[in-house]
Amino acid sequence: MQSHEEFLEEVLIPGTELQARVRELGVEISHDYKDKDLHLICILRGGVIFLTDLMKEISVPHSIDFMAVSSYGAGARTSSGQVRITLDLTASIRDRDVLLVEDIIDSGNTIASVLELLKTRRPRSLKVCTLLDKPARRETEVPIHYRGFTLPDMFVFGYGLDLDEYYRGLPFIGVVRTDVYIPPNR
Ligand code: IMP
Ligand code: MG
Repeated sequence: MQSHEEFLEEVLIPGTELQARVRELGVEISHDYKDKDLHLICILRGGVIFLTDLMKEISVPHSIDFMAVSSYGAGARTSSGQVRITLDLTASIRDRDVLLVEDIIDSGNTIASVLELLKTRRPRSLKVCTLLDKPARRETEVPIHYRGFTLPDMFVFGYGLDLDEYYRGLPFIGVVRTDVYIPPNR
């Protein structure tokens, strides 16, 4: 496998900036969820690094769980309007204060379907925290309560986000070179 450097146009958000912003989000969430029953849900796999860094900055007691979904219909590289659960939550979310932790909201289709589904399980509250937001790409409106960074229409990788499943472990967010990598769903 090639080095990530072959695909890297530029570093968009260095690790130090990510850490600083994650810390701010943690402080905000800790304030808002004081005296609540915070339950963080991470949608695998892109959100894992963000989740584990964010947890360390949240000072109120909380629990975590994971789920995985895949798009119905077209191939894995596109995002259709519907999702299928490929790995369900371990614990009930009934009467819990659920915060969905996502890597990036692009079309919004994935998170919109997940929200619909989770609502039927009667959490006490249900909010969304995303590290990255690409509003120019939105097809389905979704409420975003906590947002790390707003990006223009560009394809990025690192810090949980992949290029065909590789490079999720990079400590920064990088912009992909579109002359050597064709982003999915474009
Ligand atoms: P959507 O909001 O339903 O279109 O899909 C969001 C998912 O698409 C994310 O969870 C990522 O897996 C993937 N995705 C969207 N934009 C990017 C990107 O710039 N880099 C890497 N993955 C992306
Ligand atoms: Mg992906």
